[in-house]
Amino acid sequence: MTALPMTESNAGGDPGDDFVIDQGWDVYSEQDHAIWRSLMARQSKLLPGRACHEYLEGFERLDIAAGGIPDFARLSDALDKATGWRIVAVPGLVPDDVFFRHLAGRRFPATNWIRRPEQMDYLQEPDVFHDVMGHVPMLTNPIFADYLQAYGRGGLKALRLGALPKLARLYWYSVEFGLIQTQAGLRIYGSGIVSSRTESVYCLESPKPRRVAFDLMRIMRTDYRIDDLQDIYFVIDGFEQLFEATRPDFMPYYEQLSREADIAPGELVAGDKLVEIE
Ligand code: PHE
Ligand code: FE
Repeated sequence: MTALPMTESNAGGDPGDDFVIDQGWDVYSEQDHAIWRSLMARQSKLLPGRACHEYLEGFERLDIAAGGIPDFARLSDALDKATGWRIVAVPGLVPDDVFFRHLAGRRFPATNWIRRPEQMDYLQEPDVFHDVMGHVPMLTNPIFADYLQAYGRGGLKALRLGALPKLARLYWYSVEFGLIQTQAGLRIYGSGIVSSRTESVYCLESPKPRRVAFDLMRIMRTDYRIDDLQDIYFVIDGFEQLFEATRPDFMPYYEQLSREADIAPGELVAGDKLVEIE
């Protein structure tokens, strides 16, 4: 692993090269914590029986629901014990290379701000509720934790190769909007889903979206929408599948993808294996 600047050295000051800031946990207001608690109250009712057990176990283990917006230092200590990952605070979206370097170093960059009361259901950019409640529980799972680190390294490589738009689709359709088939039925592992009231029900129960068996190359050809519920979800059969499918060198994949047409989110193609709900 490459040497990285000590994140602690920037705490409390201006963002450095790594964009890491102090979370400022002491300055959250009572209203900020109350927003967290009401978002949490909604989601924790919806997720049992919908989120995969890996997510739910991580959620319990880290005590994410407790009280209010978590202190990243305390949360990082608990996560570090599970998989060696830590949470670092960043001021919002960070440049791609910065984001990937954090992932490659097993640091999850989480924004520190929380939405306003009038934004309970819709946000353009991730806030601390999405970043922490959505992403952090899955990082207690060793395979998923390794996958996200490998993705970070792969991101740096995709940047060098000019292939980031393809690789970004994989993040979207796995880390953010992934579904998993289990013996108990279809379950959610994607962070964009678990942190959303409407999507956590829609993705499993609505007849409208397509659910298609995970296919790496197909995913990297598929556009996605950032402004609405998804038209398509990709379903893995286990986290090993995700990890193994992405282990090979992507260079020849990018080469092949550069000669293939993109697929619209609402479109089905030959070879798609549909996953049915009941
Ligand atoms: N194996 C990929 C490559 O060589 C990196 C990668 C790992 C990409 C995991 C996505 C997820 O580029
Ligand atoms: Fe996210």
